[in-house]
Amino acid sequence: EVKAKIAPSMLSSDFANLASETQRMLNSGADWLHMDIMVLHFVPNLTIGAPVIESLRKHTTAYLDCHLMVTNPIDYVEPLGKAGASGFTFHVEASKDNWQELIQRIKSLGMRPGVALKPGTPIGDVYPLVEAEAPVEMVLVMTVEPGFGGQKFMPEMMDKVRILRKKYPSLDIEVDGGLGPSTIEMAASAGANCIVAGSSVFGAPEPAEVISLLRNSVQK
Ligand code: DX5
Ligand code: ZN
Repeated sequence: EVKAKIAPSMLSSDFANLASETQRMLNSGADWLHMDIMVLHFVPNLTIGAPVIESLRKHTTAYLDCHLMVTNPIDYVEPLGKAGASGFTFHVEASKDNWQELIQRIKSLGMRPGVALKPGTPIGDVYPLVEAEAPVEMVLVMTVEPGFGGQKFMPEMMDKVRILRKKYPSLDIEVDGGLGPSTIEMAASAGANCIVAGSSVFGAPEPAEVISLLRNSVQK
């Protein structure tokens, strides 16, 4: 009953041509565009923030699936909401004391709240956020250590996906890191329906073929 959402990670795109790269992905069948926001604190890398989302929003109506790898996600809610972000996924490790306020502010700015967890974080840490009165609408299970594209998929994370899918049949479950033709079956059969893929899509001669392969695996 959950829908497949294929989300190319723009981290693997040509940042100097972001608007045309997003259009190329949408033309290739992408449902969402995954935007990795890193600011050197939570992860040792630096990418983009609200100004780039705002500029990109002028070029596309697509769903911008923002993944906040930052230590103070609350500081980004208003800027990203105003910039036109669609989804706002923060890390549970970075929101121990204020996730209820965070979720409410994300919603009040018209964005869809999600929570992400790093490979070393137990799955039980996200249950309260899924079961809250104002809940997150997606859980992002990291299948690599966050920070960089092109890393190796961690199959042992599929236990988390299976547990989540059993507990929450209609929840959006996203996987991120090392997804591509050789790993999608593991993720899809475990129950993931939102698939982030960076290097496997952008590195392919025909991104549309990879996107449709990912979609078919989730849907069957
Ligand atoms: C990693 C990012 C991912 C990354 C995925 O920290 O969250 O979104 O871009 O890239 P691939 O698909 O190449 O592992
Ligand atoms: Zn990501």
